[in-house]
Amino acid sequence: MPMIPDRYTRPAILLHWLIAALMILNIALILTVERFPDEWVRPVVDTHKSLGITVLGLVIVRILWRATHRPPEMPGSYGRLERWAAHAAHGALYLLMVLLPLSGWMHDSAWKDAATHPMQLFGLVPWPRIGWIMGIEPVMKETLHTVFGAVHEWAGYVLYVLFALHVLGALKHQFMDGEPELQRMLPR
Ligand code: HEM
Ligand code: HEM
Repeated sequence: MPMIPDRYTRPAILLHWLIAALMILNIALILTVERFPDEWVRPVVDTHKSLGITVLGLVIVRILWRATHRPPEMPGSYGRLERWAAHAAHGALYLLMVLLPLSGWMHDSAWKDAATHPMQLFGLVPWPRIGWIMGIEPVMKETLHTVFGAVHEWAGYVLYVLFALHVLGALKHQFMDGEPELQRMLPR
């Protein structure tokens, strides 16, 4: 009989924690940007964009890995509603991991000064804006800049709520239900 795995695969674990760390760092950076000296603001925002694009790349790899590798079964002690809630939250987190960087990139591509301020990942690798958005006529583009910016901001608020539920859910399973929940996302 093959062993039933009780935790995620190593690449899945690595990607989970790497993406979590980069997203938390990216949010911390942008929410504190006003505390930086003036001459730091531009580099901090540019680093925010670079980290965000990195997350977008990693999350594509993660989704491909997830689609081709079964996650471990959930413990039998979790009720039906609880399983459903966990799956729904995970699905929504995947959606946000894509929506956040994508809406940021769209917002930035609709910026009126995008053409004169080319993007470079970590100041090293030239990175394109989204061509069809840059090509839109100026008035419409300004409207879209605001709309994409609002989507980006609101996706952030939804993420905060889901993140809190996700962590509380994991801690509940670990400490109240007494299941080795966190071990599922930790290497052996
Ligand atoms: C300190 C913060 C975090 C803790 C303690 C944590 C813990 C966990 C644990 C224990 C699991 C395994 C769930 C299971 O039993 O199947 C998990 C899965 C997952 N986590 Fe987190 N997590 C954290 C941060 C994040 C962040 C920031 C995101 C995304 C924005 C995230 C997205 C996910 C997703 C999508 C899954 C489901 C994986 C799958 O089935 O493919 N987590 N997390
Ligand atoms: C991990 C992915 C990302 C996360 C979690 C994230 C999160 C955030 C958050 C929370 C804000 C503050 C919103 C507010 O309250 O006003 C913000 C602002 C912003 N983000 Fe992102 N973002 C991500 C990726 C990106 C990407 C890829 C770009 C562009 C390529 C981008 C461009 C921006 C810009 C231009 C702002 C406004 C900064 C300012 O001028 O104050 N973001 N982001």
